[in-house]
Amino acid sequence: MDAQRAIVVVGSLNMDFVVSVEHLPAPGETILGHGFQMIPGGKGANQACAAGKLGGRSVAVRMIGCVGQDVFGDHLKASLSAAGVDVNAVHVSRANATGVALIWVDGHGQNSIVVASGANMDLAVQDVDAMRKVFRGARIALFQLETALATVASALRRAKEEGLTTILDPAPAQPLSIELLRCVDILTPNEGEALTLLGRPVARVTIEDAPALAEALSQLGPRTVILKLGESGCFAEGVHYPGFAVKAIDTTAAGDTFNAALAVALAEGKKLSDALPFANAAAAISVTRLGAQASAPSRDEVETLLAAI
Ligand code: RIB
Repeated sequence: MDAQRAIVVVGSLNMDFVVSVEHLPAPGETILGHGFQMIPGGKGANQACAAGKLGGRSVAVRMIGCVGQDVFGDHLKASLSAAGVDVNAVHVSRANATGVALIWVDGHGQNSIVVASGANMDLAVQDVDAMRKVFRGARIALFQLETALATVASALRRAKEEGLTTILDPAPAQPLSIELLRCVDILTPNEGEALTLLGRPVARVTIEDAPALAEALSQLGPRTVILKLGESGCFAEGVHYPGFAVKAIDTTAAGDTFNAALAVALAEGKKLSDALPFANAAAAISVTRLGAQASAPSRDEVETLLAAI
C-alpha cells in the first residue's frame, strides 16, 4: 500500500458503559435505565476504527494511544485490529486502568458522557519522539482532546515537522493556545466547541451564524475551519454542506465518524468539496445505530447513501 495514504490517529481509547434512558437525568435525580452495553469507544479509537472500516485496503490506519494492563485494554485493541487498524503504537500503562466513559442515551438519540481518562493521560510528551517513525510517510494525522494537552501540542508539532496534514477535533471543548492552533491545518469544532475556543458563552448556533464563526476561528491559526452543525451538516470555506435526513438513535461518535471519513477522503486525494459530503454521509449513518465503534459505517453504506441524493 502507498505509505502516502496512511492516517495516524493520536488519541484516547475508552470502554463505553452505555445505558438507554427515557430522559437524561437532572442533577440529584435517580432514574431507571435499560439495555446496558459495553461498547468500544474513545474519541481517538472511534476515529481510527471508522477510518479503518472506511479506508479498507486503500488507506492504512495507525493508532497511537495508551490503555491499561487489563481486559478492557485488550478488548479495545482487538476492536481496532478487527477494523484493520495497526495498534503497535498503543502503549500499555502499568500505573492506570484503561479509560472508561459512562454514557446515557435518551429517546431522541441525545447523550451525556462522563469520561474517566485513566491510562489515556499516560501518553506523555516523552512518548512523542517515538511517534516520528509512526508519522513517517503518512499523509494525515488526527487529534482530539481526551489525552494530555501538552502531549497533543507536542505531537501536533511533530506531525507538522513530518509533513502531515493535521486535523484537530477540539473535543471535549476547552480553550486552546494560539501556538497549538497554529499547528492545526484543519480544525473541526461543533457549535459548542467553536464558541468555547472563541471565549464566548455557549448558545444556539444557526447556519446564518456559521460564516462569521468560521472566520473568527480561522483568525486563531488553523488553515481551514470546518464547522460541524450536527443534523444540518457542516460549513467550510464559505459553503454549507447539508446533512442527511435520518432517524437518530444515538449521536455518540457522530463527530468522530465525520473526522474519520474526512481523513479517508483526503488521504485518497479527494477535494474538500467532495470529502465533506462523504463525511456528512458517514456521520449520518452512524447516528442511526447505538454505540460508538459499533455504529461506524462500511464504505458501501456511505457510497449508497451518497448515490441516493
Ligand atoms: O465521541 C464519543 C466518545 O466520547 C465516546 O466513545 C466516549 O468514549 C467519549 O470519549
